[in-house]
Amino acid sequence: MDVGVVGGSGYGGAELLRLLAGHPSFKIRTIGAGRSAGRDLAEVFPHLGMSGPLAPAHPEAFEGCDVVFLATPDEVSLELAPALSGGVGLVVDLSAAFRLDAGVYERTYARPHTAAALTPAPYGLPELFRDGLPGRTLVAGPGCYPTAALLALAPLAGLVDPASVVIAGLSGTSGAGRGLRDDLHASHAVGNVSVYGAPSHRHTPEIEAGWAALAALDEVAPVTFTPHLVPLSRGLHCTVTAMLCDPAADVRAACLDRYDAEPFVTVLPPGVWPSTTHLRGGNAAHVGAAVDGRTGRVTVACAIDNLDKGAAGQAIQAANAVLGLPETSGLPIAGVYP
Ligand SMILES: NC(=O)c1ccc[n+]([C@@H]2O[C@H](COP(=O)([O-])OP(=O)(O)OC[C@H]3O[C@@H](n4cnc5c(N)ncnc54)[C@H](OP(=O)(O)O)[C@@H]3O)[C@@H](O)[C@H]2O)c1
Repeated sequence: MDVGVVGGSGYGGAELLRLLAGHPSFKIRTIGAGRSAGRDLAEVFPHLGMSGPLAPAHPEAFEGCDVVFLATPDEVSLELAPALSGGVGLVVDLSAAFRLDAGVYERTYARPHTAAALTPAPYGLPELFRDGLPGRTLVAGPGCYPTAALLALAPLAGLVDPASVVIAGLSGTSGAGRGLRDDLHASHAVGNVSVYGAPSHRHTPEIEAGWAALAALDEVAPVTFTPHLVPLSRGLHCTVTAMLCDPAADVRAACLDRYDAEPFVTVLPPGVWPSTTHLRGGNAAHVGAAVDGRTGRVTVACAIDNLDKGAAGQAIQAANAVLGLPETSGLPIAGVYP
C-alpha cells in the first residue's frame, strides 16, 4: 500500500518515517513538509538513512495514496484533511484538529473549526476505542498526554468516584515539537522541572471526553490535570489518583483484565512502576497500580514514548486496525534500553 507523510521534517513525521520503513505492508511514496520543502531528507534527518526531496504539501501530490499521515499543526490538518478526502483511502491525523466536538475544539484552542462536519473523527486509541476504527476514512490520533492518562484511567471505570480524578503528567521536550521556544532551550530545560499550562491545559477536555466515554458517564466529570516539562528528549508519564468507591477493590486485577490481551500494554508486577527509559523507541505502554488503604485512593501510573505510543506508533497501529492488518504490523514493542 502506498503511503504519504505530511510533516516529514518534524519530530512526529521523522518517527513515522522510521517506523514505516520497516512496515511489511506500507511503502512510503510521498513525504511533504512546510518550510523545509525542497530540502533533502538525508540533510534534515540523517538518522533515518533515507534520501530524497521533501515535497510541498499540495493535496495533489498525495492523490491515490492508500494512507496519508498528517504530522502537522492543527491549522494545516484542518485544511489538508478535507482536501485529501476522496482522493486517498485513509487519513490519520496526529494533530488535535479532529479529536473533539467542533464547539469544544473552538473553546479549547481558541480558533474556528473549519471542517466541523468531520469532527469528532474516530479516536485512534485502539486498546480503548477499537470498535470505531475498521473501514473508516479519517482517524484522529490521540494526544500524547491523553493516551497515557486514558490507558491509566480505563481500568478504574466503575471503581472510582469519576469526579475525584487528579492527574500529574510529565513530558520531555520533544512533546512540544521541533519549533523553537524559550523554555525548550537546552540552557533552560536541562536540569529543570516545571509545571506549565495548569489548570487548563488543552489536553484536559480530551482526557475528560475519553474518561466520560470509558466510564459511561451521562455528562463530563471534571478532571484536574497538571502537566510538567521534564529534562528528557522523549518520554511521557502520567500518574492518576482517584478515590475508590470500595477501598478493598482489586485494582491490579482490573488492570490485568483490561490489558491481558493487549500486545502493547504491559501491567507491571506489584511494586514495579513504569519508567520512561524502558519505553524509548517502542510502541508499548507500561502500567503500574497500587491502592493506598490509608486514604482510600488508588494510584495508577502509565509511561509511554510520546513519539511512539503517544504519536507515530499509535497512528500506525490505528491505520493497521482500520485496514484489517494485525495491529502490531511494523511496530516494535520492546524499547531501546539503556
Ligand atoms: N511531539 C509529540 O510528542 C506529539 C504527540 C502527539 C501528537 N502530536 C501532534 O502531531 C503534530 C506534529 O507534531 P510534531 O511534534 O511532529 O511537530 P513539529 O516537530 O513541529 O513538526 C511539524 C511539521 O509540520 C510541518 N508543517 C508546518 N506547516 C506546514 C504546512 N503549511 N504545510 C505542510 N507541512 C507543514 C513542518 O514542516 P516544516 O518544519 O518544514 O515547516 C513539520 O514537518 C502536531 O499537531 C502535534 O500536536 C505531537
